[in-house]
Formats: sequence, structure tokens, C-alpha cells
Amino acid sequence: MIKVKKRKILLLPGDGIGPEVIAEVKKIIQWFNKNKSLDFEIDEDLVGGAAYDKYKTPITDEVFYKALESEAVILGAVGGPKWDKLEFSKKPERALLKLRKELKLFANLRPAICFKQLVDASSLKPEIVSGLDIMIVRELTGGIYFGEPRGIKPIDNGERKGINTHSYTTKEIERVARVAFDLAKKRDNKVTSCEKSNVMEAGQLWKEEVQILHDKEYKDVELTHMLADNCAMQLLRNPKQFDVIVTDNLFGDILSDEAAMLTGSLGLLPSASLGAKDKDGNMRSMYEPVHGSAPDITGKGIANPIATILSFSMALKYSLNLDKESKALDSAVQKVLDDGLRTKDIISKGKKEVSTSEMGDAIIACLQK
Ligand code: IPM
Ligand code: MG
Repeated sequence: MIKVKKRKILLLPGDGIGPEVIAEVKKIIQWFNKNKSLDFEIDEDLVGGAAYDKYKTPITDEVFYKALESEAVILGAVGGPKWDKLEFSKKPERALLKLRKELKLFANLRPAICFKQLVDASSLKPEIVSGLDIMIVRELTGGIYFGEPRGIKPIDNGERKGINTHSYTTKEIERVARVAFDLAKKRDNKVTSCEKSNVMEAGQLWKEEVQILHDKEYKDVELTHMLADNCAMQLLRNPKQFDVIVTDNLFGDILSDEAAMLTGSLGLLPSASLGAKDKDGNMRSMYEPVHGSAPDITGKGIANPIATILSFSMALKYSLNLDKESKALDSAVQKVLDDGLRTKDIISKGKKEVSTSEMGDAIIACLQK
């Protein structure tokens, strides 16, 4: 068989359950190498609290350069109570924000899909969530997360002032809106753009620029503008009205947690963070499960590896140009759920509870067939 060119994948397990779920992805990558004649070159390194414990920094320059040179980074999770008291610049989360910012991963894709096998796990009524399939496109390198000035400074009378700045430029809005419109064209052709244009100038600009791009290049896509607080409410009232939601960094952070939770399966939701394509069509990217480091269940072998495995599937699709392999992996996950296997977070009556690694093995067994 012909071997394709070596592709570098960097695994950054991070903290909490990160290492447990990344271990399952590693098994799957190795399976693809062995059985599909793919030639992924896997490297693995420390990030977040794990990196701090060893090097006193949440990400070393060496790891950062490895990430720059990889075709895809797969990250587990960062953070945990152990590092909560660290000075701001040393916190595990800074590693994540540095990777996002400096790899210029401006478009964060967070699908919220209600798996048919898990409709009952949602806190909403089955008829509200069954068949739900939303794509949230969150701007990831701008807005209040990175705006200047920022900081905490002393003011008169012994008080202190905390400052963060929310700002966006035309280009920042346009490039992420473009990602949303392009995705919508391959889905239900609807984009909802969320901001607070009734309160913030940056929100007004957001709304105007999205509309201008729409009128110029995407007239055939249905565009709706919605205030972010209304969107939070509509997500609970009637989530199936949405197809693609595009919004800024902070609103995207919040709305994507809300959307994830209404699927009842936080342990199943992947995400992709994408940069711009260069002239050869290559792009930087990072893939992560939407769930965090879950310190309360760390080391117990009960974490759900599916979100991370589906994140790798997104890497196959968006970064590695292996659509067929991505679909095969998605189907294997579906099959395992159809067979009634469940990790503890999604267990229900009559289903079989399996550990993190048993879940990984079962998915590989399905790929085998
Ligand atoms: C997320 C997380 C991060 C964020 C944290 C860990 C910095 O909540 O990816 O949604 O706020 O972006
Ligand atoms: Mg978040």
C-alpha cells in the first residue's frame, strides 16, 4: 500500500482527566497508522498545570514551537484547584489562551448535537432537543479576552480598579463571519449573529459588518441578528430554530456552555479552533473536548473519552483532509452508543457501564469491522 506523507500531530494531555481521554485518542491514532497505512507522527508534551509543576510556566517555548510546526494539536484540558492561587500569568489557562492567540486560531467551532441515544439525558423535554444540531462559531482571538488596556490598578482612596477592554475591528469580524457563512452553506443555510448592539458600540459594529459581508457575498444565506441575552433565552425555549450561531469571544464562551448542556452530553462534544489558510492551503489548528479538566473525577478511569475522540475526528476532517476516516470514526462512536455502552456520566437504566479505556477499545473494535 502507498504511504501518505508523515503528518505531525501534537498531543497535549494537560491536567485533570486530560491525560486519560488523550490516551484513548492516542490508541485510535495508532490504530489508523497500523490499519489504514496512515503515517501520523505523534508527539506528546506537557501543558497547563502539568507544565507549571515541572517548568514553572504553563507552556514552555519548546512546546509552543512544536505546536507551531504541527498540522494539528489535540489538547485534553487545563486547570484545576491545585493551581487556582497562582499569579495570573502562571495560571494553566494562560497556556490555552497563548496557543489560541499566537497560532491565530480565530474561529472556534463548537457543535452542539443531541445524540439520539441520549435524548433523555437532557434536562429539557425530548421534543425540544431531539435532533438538535447547532454549530456555534465563536470568535477566539479578540474581544474582551485580549483587549488592551487591561489589568488591576490602585486608584485614589485605597480602592482598586479592574479593567478589561472589549473591541473588534472590521477584519476580525469579517473573517469569523465568513467561516460561519461558509459552514451554513453546507448545513441548513441559516446564520444567527449575536451581539449586544443595544448597549455596546463594538456590538453595533459587529452587527453592521456581518450584514455588510452578507449583502456582498452571502445573499443566499438566511441571516438573523439577535441580542446575546435573547439568544441565551431562545436556546432554552426553542433551540432547534438555530443552525449556525456566530458570536464574539465572551458571548461564545457562555452560549456554547449553555448549548452543550442542553444536549445532555457534555462528555460527547468536540471543538475545533482554526486559523487562516496560507497560500498553500495549510492552516494551523487545535482540537479540544468542550468539557474541562473535571478534577472531581480525575484518576478514576470513568471519564468519557468520546468528546476528545470526536475532536480528533474533526481534525481528520478539517486539518488532515481525511473525510472518509473522519466519517468512519464518527460512525464507530454512534455504533458503540447504539450497542448500549456508556461511561458513568451518561449511564441510564438498561445500559452497560464501561470505563474510559473500555470505551476507547470498543470504538476501535467498531472501526475494525
Ligand atoms: C473554554 C474555556 C476557556 C475560555 C478557559 C479555560 C480559559 O472556558 O474554552 O470555553 O474561557 O475560553
Ligand atoms: Mg468556556
